[in-house]
Amino acid sequence: MMSVSDILEGKLTEKEVEIKGWLVTKRSSGGVQFLSIRDGTGTVQATIHKNEVAKKAFEDADKLTQESSLVIKGTVKEDKRAPGGYEVRINDLHIIQIAAQDYPIGKKDHGIDFLLGYRHLWVRSPRQIAILKIRAEVIKACRDFLEESGFTLTDSPIFTPAVAEGVATLFETPYFGEKAFLAQTGQLYVEATIAAFGKVYCFGPTFRAEKSKTPRHLTEFWMVEPEAAFYTFEDNLKLQEEMITYIVKKVLENRSKELEVLKRNVKPLKKVEPPFDRISYTEAVNMLQKAKCPIQWGEDLGAPHEKFISQKFEKPVFVHRYPTKVKAFYMQPDPQNPEVALCADLMASEGYGEIIGGSERIHDLKLLEQRLEEFGLPKKAYEWYLDLRRYGSVPHSGFGLGIERVTLWICKLKHIRETIPFPRTINRVYP
Ligand code: 4AD
Ligand code: MG
Repeated sequence: MMSVSDILEGKLTEKEVEIKGWLVTKRSSGGVQFLSIRDGTGTVQATIHKNEVAKKAFEDADKLTQESSLVIKGTVKEDKRAPGGYEVRINDLHIIQIAAQDYPIGKKDHGIDFLLGYRHLWVRSPRQIAILKIRAEVIKACRDFLEESGFTLTDSPIFTPAVAEGVATLFETPYFGEKAFLAQTGQLYVEATIAAFGKVYCFGPTFRAEKSKTPRHLTEFWMVEPEAAFYTFEDNLKLQEEMITYIVKKVLENRSKELEVLKRNVKPLKKVEPPFDRISYTEAVNMLQKAKCPIQWGEDLGAPHEKFISQKFEKPVFVHRYPTKVKAFYMQPDPQNPEVALCADLMASEGYGEIIGGSERIHDLKLLEQRLEEFGLPKKAYEWYLDLRRYGSVPHSGFGLGIERVTLWICKLKHIRETIPFPRTINRVYP
């Protein structure tokens, strides 16, 4: 198969090619029509000259509307005037479908609600293509990194019997006379598979009934969750540093064109390498209070707090040891001070805030039972999870990396809704 990307890389110069794709724009000047054609690998200019092709081919080109699908045959020519430096000189053209005249997405500025309503078409535009390519690169990098580091993929279920990350954001669904919840995380299940494989991860969609509209919350988002037996809190942070560094490096290496489309300044990304700074929650609260960003010790950090901290550091920064009260039931209390947990959130730089949440887990049966009770969670639903502490329990740690949050930061976007092909938010499940 010949592709536009091969043409633009100069691999097909002076060669005969066949390109299948869609018409992006068209203009004509005298006996020449200039077609801009997208094939999924890139966009290239193609010209059709009246005196060089059959009459029908030239007339067909004239009929093409924006987003019409077509096949062209022609010769690749180097041409400095063409965007990308190459053009295809058409010698034959075949229409697959003439798109309806009223393609809703044009060059003019559309409101965001309009665009989201046409997300199925909006994904074709250059900026969206660039973002989603970077998203795909982030996902590939996560998988590659973990596989190379000896982690085995163990998929976790979406229908689950119990709460993991808080009752407030649960989606409940009928389940043959019972009720089930859509998974908020796969963590509890990877805590089970570590005893079979040592180091594991799950990767899949997770669901949270986020009731507030914010630029960084989706109701359906994708999370990578590594979990490792015998990993200490410290091992866990090291893994996160290495993984984020690897992801950023791969995007810089393989998606520089897309970063350019987004006009992303890559300087801050080039600085990302271990070690990342670490501050305790208590230090963070002091910093915030000094800066007159109101917060009391014991409260969870909110968006403005995270933004502030994340702007103070050139690289991503860990905020560790949050009060146990504001975090999930499964987190291991710090033996030095059980008021705080052995957990950390990784804040991206440039004001982006949390991209990873992780912790060491409670591995002691008694303590875990006690925590379930304190959180008012029904022990029955967690019997299987408690079994993990009955049969060969070991210290272990893990974390969850939000794909959309990482993409949001790497692309430096204003809103998370552009980082996923079909975003789900509090007020949108269409298309
Ligand atoms: O901090 P969270 O809630 O942690 C967990 O779910 C753990 N069980 C993960 C683990 O240790 N295995 O979520 C983890 C990450 C966040 O740091 C953020 O990147 C992302 O998931 N995230 C969201 N992304 C988009 N929309 C939302 N509503 C999100 N909620 C969390
Ligand atoms: Mg979190």
